[in-house]
Amino acid sequence: MSNTNSIGLFDSGIGGTSIWKAIHQLLPHENTIYLADSKNAPYGKRSKQEIIDLSSKNVDFLLEQNCKIIVVACNTATTNAIKELREKYDVPFIGIEPAIKPAANQSETQTIGILATKGTLNSDLFNRQVESYTNVKILEQVGYGLVELIERGQIDSTEMSNLLKIYLRPMVKANMDCLVLGCSHYPYLIPAIRKIIPEHVKIIDSGEAVAKQTKAVLEKHNLLNESKAKSTQLFYTNDDATVLKTILGFSDNVFEKDF
Ligand code: DGL
Repeated sequence: MSNTNSIGLFDSGIGGTSIWKAIHQLLPHENTIYLADSKNAPYGKRSKQEIIDLSSKNVDFLLEQNCKIIVVACNTATTNAIKELREKYDVPFIGIEPAIKPAANQSETQTIGILATKGTLNSDLFNRQVESYTNVKILEQVGYGLVELIERGQIDSTEMSNLLKIYLRPMVKANMDCLVLGCSHYPYLIPAIRKIIPEHVKIIDSGEAVAKQTKAVLEKHNLLNESKAKSTQLFYTNDDATVLKTILGFSDNVFEKDF
């Protein structure tokens, strides 16, 4: 395995680009390949076995492109499938999970909120993690409909704002002072969320932590790309690429492809 090989990332759709952005910012010399499985989004409503099968299909594609490490840029796929992926494939995996720890450490009201998909909140991995936090109250909320709206590019819509109000206001009322975004699509909602929750409520996502972890694992495996040559960033979606291009802010190397 050469260290100039790409970092492979996948998500159920376009949301994992929030993770890609954090990784690209920290590791600009790394080549990357991002897969948006938008045709099959949302994963959050699917069974564990379906999520494992779809995740395997994405990993097969990334390994065909000789990726040196796989970042599961999706909380739902991580919490439901990462164990099975690690057992099946001989490549390092980085997963993302809702950032409960930093929220619990920062909370002064001892009350944190987690907005995530049903698949994440129902997973064994997430529930085992929650059980270890006994000194903080954790308010869980499924973000029904949010991923679908983001995939359609309706981030600033009235429908989005109305759903967010329904999900977030009860958490604010219950004294939450940290909100964990437990889905890689949700960082794109931060401006809309900011309009609904009070200023003192901190919003916590996993992007930076995942980027640091990716760097550490590459270092550990001697896979960090030391070359200062211009890196290549490739994006594939199995749906219409319009929204993906919009949220990336560019259209170079963004391809529609069946996988
Ligand atoms: N970005 C995925 C996550 O982090 C979205 C899940 C979905 O497709 O429902 O959970």
